[in-house]
Amino acid sequence: MVTKIMSWFDERLPITATIERHLTKYPAPINMNIWYLAGFLLIVVLVIQLISGIWLLMSYEPTAEGAFASIQYIMRDVEYGWMIRYMHTTGASAFFALIYLHMFRGMMYGSYQKPRELLWVIGWFTYLLLCMLGFTGYVLPWGQMSFWAAQVIMSLFGSIPFFGEELLTWIRGDYLISGITLNRLFALHVVLLPLALIVVIFVHILALHEVGSNNPDGVDVKKFKDEDGVPLDTKPFFPYDIVHDLYAVGVFLIFFCFIMFFYPDGGGYVIEYVNYEAADNLKTPEHIVPSWYYTPYYAMLRAITFPLFGLSAKFLGFVVMAAGIAIFVALPWLDRSPVKSIRYKGVYSKFFLTLFVISFFVLGYLGSVASTPIRTILAQFFTCTYFAYFLLMPIYSKYEKCNPVPDRVTLS
Ligand code: HEM
Repeated sequence: MVTKIMSWFDERLPITATIERHLTKYPAPINMNIWYLAGFLLIVVLVIQLISGIWLLMSYEPTAEGAFASIQYIMRDVEYGWMIRYMHTTGASAFFALIYLHMFRGMMYGSYQKPRELLWVIGWFTYLLLCMLGFTGYVLPWGQMSFWAAQVIMSLFGSIPFFGEELLTWIRGDYLISGITLNRLFALHVVLLPLALIVVIFVHILALHEVGSNNPDGVDVKKFKDEDGVPLDTKPFFPYDIVHDLYAVGVFLIFFCFIMFFYPDGGGYVIEYVNYEAADNLKTPEHIVPSWYYTPYYAMLRAITFPLFGLSAKFLGFVVMAAGIAIFVALPWLDRSPVKSIRYKGVYSKFFLTLFVISFFVLGYLGSVASTPIRTILAQFFTCTYFAYFLLMPIYSKYEKCNPVPDRVTLS
């Protein structure tokens, strides 16, 4: 009966073939490791965010007068409202933690190299959308930090020469940040950006399945196939890969629930304490800091303290910050190495990748604390080392001595 119903559908829509191609029979390299779990977990977090977001939406009020109070209402009066809100705030941090791990995996194993350039670029778009989602969502509770973060970030557009001020007014929809601004950020956060994110993630997975997964050795698993044309060094996603993914989901949810139930503000990192105060446009908080996942870029913004060629320091900082996010997209064309994985790349690649990680963390710290002259110098130094990883890559990846790459994947 079931087979009959299924074949009725399959004759009209390739359901079984699609499920087999993109899910159950997808050939996953046998040497995938723990770094390959983040992609699946990102999809889990996306679902958590969509569900908790829709629930929050049922009681949230997107007006300057009512937003802050509606969050208090959700926290205190709505049944399990506190849980839904903490789920959403924890989910936001988890999303970024996972996306950084996911991107770093790609950088380690050269997953952006041919033929996965487009897959990488599409992935980068998801990151960009996530940054916008994070920012627009952060403003919605209309607390002190929401308001002033919006003020700082939006004013950056005002620093653009010639038309900055007009652009800023157009973006805000008002001459200062107001309920109108809140309302449009709300529209972006709940409709346009999630929709775009879902579409781009869908295309990301399609692109992945077109070229196939890379692996920690960075070798082409399609080179050696069995008599049925199945690559020898792969296994079907179901059941061999999904068991790992589901196990990872279990472990991840334990951590997630721990934060959600016992440590929801994450020491001020998941929810900033200043945001427990309602927005007040007459009182600037002592230190305006963004969420932890933007702090490396915030440190870059503040690192530029001098005007140059008639351009203001603020505008130059904005450019450097934007470049810090944008430069990832150029990686496939900056890397000239004949080898994909860091396992077989030369000593310079290893050095610069380590330097990148150190720079990212130090900048992350510097962006989360108040700036002092010495911290500004440190931020300038680590901004340079951050960019050195990317900008010197065409040289060091081309001329360094790499180790021989095996023909087939290795298993430890
Ligand atoms: C919400 C955002 C994202 C989701 C849901 C997502 C999902 C996935 C999934 C499920 C996989 C296959 C499993 C795995 O290899 O981990 C994957 C692979 C991949 N993703 Fe993403 N991804 C996202 C963002 C990104 C970003 C920001 C980048 C890079 C800038 C990226 C680059 C890649 C690459 C290169 C692969 C193939 C890796 C390999 O085979 O070694 N993804 N992604």
